[in-house]
Amino acid sequence: MKVDVLLGLQWGDEGKGKVVDVLTPRYDVVARFQGGPNAGHTLEFEGKKYVLRSIPSGIFQHGQINIIGNGVVLDPVLFQEEAEALERSGIDLRKVLKISKKVHLILPTHRLLDAANEKAKGGAKIGTTGKGIGPTYTDKISRNGLRLGDTLHNFETKYSAARDRHVAMLQSMGETPEFNELEARWLKAIEYIKTFDIIDSEHYINRALKEGKSVLCEGAQGTLLDIDFGSYPFVTSSNTITAGACSGLGVAPNKIGEVFGIFKAYCTRVGSGPFPTELFDETGKKIRDIGHEYGAVTGRERRCGWIDLVALRYAIMINGVTQLIMMKSDVLDSFDSIKACVAYKVSGEEITDFPYSIEEECIEPVYVTLPGWKTDMTRMKTEEEFPAQFSEYIKFLEEQLQTPITIVSIGPDREQTIIRKK
Ligand code: GDP
Ligand code: IMO
Ligand code: MG
Repeated sequence: MKVDVLLGLQWGDEGKGKVVDVLTPRYDVVARFQGGPNAGHTLEFEGKKYVLRSIPSGIFQHGQINIIGNGVVLDPVLFQEEAEALERSGIDLRKVLKISKKVHLILPTHRLLDAANEKAKGGAKIGTTGKGIGPTYTDKISRNGLRLGDTLHNFETKYSAARDRHVAMLQSMGETPEFNELEARWLKAIEYIKTFDIIDSEHYINRALKEGKSVLCEGAQGTLLDIDFGSYPFVTSSNTITAGACSGLGVAPNKIGEVFGIFKAYCTRVGSGPFPTELFDETGKKIRDIGHEYGAVTGRERRCGWIDLVALRYAIMINGVTQLIMMKSDVLDSFDSIKACVAYKVSGEEITDFPYSIEEECIEPVYVTLPGWKTDMTRMKTEEEFPAQFSEYIKFLEEQLQTPITIVSIGPDREQTIIRKK
């Protein structure tokens, strides 16, 4: 059996949570492979809305095993909050959730370091989610991290050493860290996590594949936030791309099957960093208002702009996307016309390969304008109902991106999803 991967092709918040939930009935196992509580994955069904941060979005369907893989960084306090909320809503979490022994732990001092690093950068700050993601992955790569498996043996000593090292770093940055209360909660949350099934998830997943079970990997963030291929340094600290599923779960590259690449019919970004097609006018505001483009984790306003096909082609290439999923086209339902960036003009020359730098001052987007469909599509059930202009828009995107769009999402609810015939 192969492993399918679903991941974001833009700057995150494409709607990954919603689609993972919709696709989960096709799978036996759903697994997160990177990121941490910087993610906010929203699901809506039966009139209720849920936001998941570290727990995979397969958790609301019935019976699938959900795994938090080794590539994830986990904050015990936030995990406990998320898990207890799910338990209150009636989910028997201990039956369906397993956590890798190799996940790295986000310490209270990692969060303080995240804030101190941002403060030190001043105007050049990344605009992180403040969840300690960068410092935790830094410790992982510099071989100083603490893993969940470490809690099973002689943990107090290992924890104190890491904490004291962080305190010295914070003091050298001029900070006077205070975290007694948070530390007490954190240590309690460690005991809570230990009541879950903590496993060697690489063995579990590979065994499941051998037994003929199907696995869906759920990405967090998006390709343009990838540590290697995103708009560095305004990125997150993990590999958000398909390759990240291999290293973040222990799945070999030749086991990857379908790669679902998910994108919005326009584009958004939260935090700092370049965004060539960003709109600063009424249209940008209209997209934000209709699309409710405010961060699921931080509540921050998301920056909005037109779809960027140069960046999307790049993301499709890096990830080996086999199927595209288009989200939130309903947000454009009332627009007279829609723009799509098909190339960049750099020093007077048109380019279509995503360049090393996308700083706004050196890039001018080249747009194609397409007619809007001016139809409320939110109650449609099949692609036969699509207005002609919308079908044309899809055809245009498929030609530009050389990849089929197999799913179209026309609203936040589970039901507002149209699976296209191949
Ligand atoms: P994720 O991080 O990729 O899972 O995406 P988020 O949950 O952060 O952001 C996507 C937002 O769009 C959420 O509020 C979803 O409820 C909402 N959403 C998802 N799909 C659609 C859609 O097709 N139309 C509309 N209008 N909203 C959607
Ligand atoms: P989901 O999974 C959108 C952004 C932050 C910041 C940068 C680095 O919900 O799509 P970090 O806290 O990771 O060090 O912040 O990355 N960012 C996201 N933006 N969606 C996300 O996750 C994000 N996770 C991080 O805003 O610009
Ligand atoms: Mg999100």
